[in-house]
Amino acid sequence: MYLEKIVLENFRNYTEKSLSFDKSGSFLCGKNGCGKTNLLESIYILSYGKSFRTMNLDELVMLSKDFFRIKGSFNGAVKKKIEFRCSVDKKKIFINGVEISNLKELIGTIALIFLSLNDINLISGEPSLRRRFLDSLLSLLFPDYLADLLDYRRVLRQRNKILYLRKIGRRDSTAGIEGWTEELIQIGSRIIKKRLSIMKDLNKCVSFYYTLFSPEKDKLSVGYSPSFQFNENIDESFNDSIRKRRDEELEKGMTLTGPHRDDLLITINELPMRKFASEGEQRTCAISLKIAKASFLKNKRKDDPILLIDEAVAELDIIRTEKVLNSITEIGQCFIATTKCEMLRNMTSLKKIDIENEKGK
Ligand SMILES: Nc1ncnc2c1ncn2[C@@H]1O[C@H](COP(=O)(O)OP(=O)(O)O)[C@@H](O)[C@H]1O
Ligand SMILES: [Mg+2]
Repeated sequence: MYLEKIVLENFRNYTEKSLSFDKSGSFLCGKNGCGKTNLLESIYILSYGKSFRTMNLDELVMLSKDFFRIKGSFNGAVKKKIEFRCSVDKKKIFINGVEISNLKELIGTIALIFLSLNDINLISGEPSLRRRFLDSLLSLLFPDYLADLLDYRRVLRQRNKILYLRKIGRRDSTAGIEGWTEELIQIGSRIIKKRLSIMKDLNKCVSFYYTLFSPEKDKLSVGYSPSFQFNENIDESFNDSIRKRRDEELEKGMTLTGPHRDDLLITINELPMRKFASEGEQRTCAISLKIAKASFLKNKRKDDPILLIDEAVAELDIIRTEKVLNSITEIGQCFIATTKCEMLRNMTSLKKIDIENEKGK
């Protein structure tokens, strides 16, 4: 899919703004603070139903206004109109004019990947960020995965509540936990199997881009790092592990085994990147992960993804930048927000949109 047109009303610094785009995308140029990230944010919201910057809808409404609206027309295998309305902290989402009742109906409609300078956290940060990366990719590939994930979180909350209340003495026993444990193992095993099913291809894809972007001959590898040892029977291993750790669970007041505790292990020449790689290597790896995600979606889904790039290539040297730009523009429609427009413009043929001149219109 690609975004043909977007209309913003009272969204952040845009009072009223209508923009049309080419199938290949645009360079969004302009000084700091002119609204480049805001525009990317509005496109992101149409795809995920939430912002990448805040959970607070109030922040998105233009100061002194009481509502905002984002309308997007997408084209591709099919045409789709998506509208996001928000007033007094209440949001409404429409697909082709019909209001949806659950965010699940929106997620997966538009495959969109957002790259920013914060992506380095994907390598250097907490395991939860890498899980989120995997979960987001799998949710865009398999609608069942998202349903399982939401179910798993619900069951996990219930199970943790029993363990926690027992720990602080507000319950005498863990009665009732068995049912939740069984559900947790059933859904959790499905989640782990789905994650494992893409690891080989994902590893290949990320390594491909990393090698393409880095001048050295380093060997990158992405593998699954589970919270418990398992053999080919994941359900059984999960069951064994959770039972073995029951005392520890009671002591900590939470569930310690399962996909919510798993991680991706990313190594460079066999050494964990999180601890041993330089900032430049981590950045290149983070970009490789995100581009691999986009390329993966392009191959496995019937429509091309959209890529939002917020200054993410700004920290790379010229050779890497050129290679990254070539790779992303091959995958799908790209929106590249940058203050370094003059430098980047010579490297691709994307159309330039001057955001600076648009402010306040
Ligand atoms: N709710 C809002 N109402 C009005 N202006 C806003 C709102 N939220 C952010 N802004 C303005 O948007 C600008 C920042 O836009 P941003 O897209 O982050 O800039 P950049 O082009 O550097 O990416 C700031 O000037 C900020 O004051
Ligand atoms: Mg910005």
